[in-house]
Amino acid sequence: MTDQSSNQMWGGRFAAGPDAIMEAINASIGFDQRMAAQDIAGSRAHAAMLAATGVISDSDAQAIREGLLTVLSEIQSGSFQFSTALEDIHMNVEARLKEVIGEPAGRLHTGRSRNDQVATDFKLWVRDQFDAAEIGLLALIRALLTQAEAGADWVMPGFTHLQTAQPVTWGHHMMAYVEMFGRDLSRVRDARARMNESPLGAAALAGTSFPIDRQMTAEALGFDRPAANSLDAVSDRDFALEFLSTASICAVHLSRFAEELVIWSSAQFRFVTLSDRFSTGSSIMPQKKNPDAAELIRAKVGRIYGANTALMMVMKGLPLAYSKDMQEDKEQVFDAADNWMLALAAMEGMVKDMTANRDSLAAAAGSGFSTATDLADWLVRVLGLPFRDAHHVTGSLVAMAETKGCDLPDLTLDDMQSVHGDITDDVYSVLTVENSVNSRQSYGGTAPDQVRTQIKRWKARL
Ligand code: ARG
Repeated sequence: MTDQSSNQMWGGRFAAGPDAIMEAINASIGFDQRMAAQDIAGSRAHAAMLAATGVISDSDAQAIREGLLTVLSEIQSGSFQFSTALEDIHMNVEARLKEVIGEPAGRLHTGRSRNDQVATDFKLWVRDQFDAAEIGLLALIRALLTQAEAGADWVMPGFTHLQTAQPVTWGHHMMAYVEMFGRDLSRVRDARARMNESPLGAAALAGTSFPIDRQMTAEALGFDRPAANSLDAVSDRDFALEFLSTASICAVHLSRFAEELVIWSSAQFRFVTLSDRFSTGSSIMPQKKNPDAAELIRAKVGRIYGANTALMMVMKGLPLAYSKDMQEDKEQVFDAADNWMLALAAMEGMVKDMTANRDSLAAAAGSGFSTATDLADWLVRVLGLPFRDAHHVTGSLVAMAETKGCDLPDLTLDDMQSVHGDITDDVYSVLTVENSVNSRQSYGGTAPDQVRTQIKRWKARL
């Protein structure tokens, strides 16, 4: 006889139940209950397959499959009593199934183990999150395309080192983020395709002697095929690592954009006005409108990348096959997924609602000698100067304008000719920001025509 308090799933060889601390460190039900729907879907597919292959009777499979739906509805309605003593979602569901349908419940775990079960559930959960990320990214890309289209020819300063560099267009800047989020989207799709192999039927680690049909369960659960090596199938968490690294890279992109929005919405820049719906006020300073959503998005990369690092460290050095360390995978992924989806949605909302201040952008575009490179290029193109000499001449003209406290187009032709005698008044044609951006016609350049070409390409792609 085993002790009353020993585990009903594996208590056979145990004389005593676990210490309370053991139960606390061992249990995952506090978080893995989020995989209830996936667990039940996996078990229903497994039961159907066990009947189809003659391992269990049709009537037992029928009872199991229906009973599992009852359990699912209890969980969804909130009436299900989760028990820490039953460790995890897998044992909580199975124990309740036993209460609901009795003896046939004990046949469900034939030819499988919690090791392939948890890998299957978790893969199904992560796969759903890849799909949610795809939807979130597509919505954000669409919002950026709308901004880009509206301001394809609005001029603004382009920066390097956050110092004015050359004029660019608003559309071009928005499209830079479309490219980044587009790569995130392709990473999501790649990783999702790669992960879509079913662990179910790998059993504890070695496969099973029952004549199971792994193809059948794989298909029922929307996997492309069964995973080909049972040891790998139960111990692989690459899919979670790829999810977290994909999320991390995307979070980096989100945080860079968020940082720009924080800067751009400041009184010193006034490049954009964020909507009231995505800003907050200050309880003491009545004039304030703070870009909190942007700041929080900027910060989310910390926890998302933290989750990535944490799981990398959990997996590092684990011998094959399953080790309980791997139970630490879920909280990291759950938290990162929640925050990634939230950040994507908040960014989409902010981008949709924000107003680009065309006049402020244009005023800033011309400041800081932003057309100096155009001037140097003119000296090369029209006067045939080597670029290095043209750079030097332009540098002298910039210094002169700086001394006079004016911009490059405000220098007189006499001023210009005092530095290089061959300069003609044709030079003024390249000193306006409009001409500057219009001249950047190289593929992928900032000229409005080029920006519109890229917008069109993206729209066709979506
Ligand atoms: N709760 C466990 C986890 O999340 C399920 C697998 C347990 N397997 C085992 N052999 N103890 O990883």
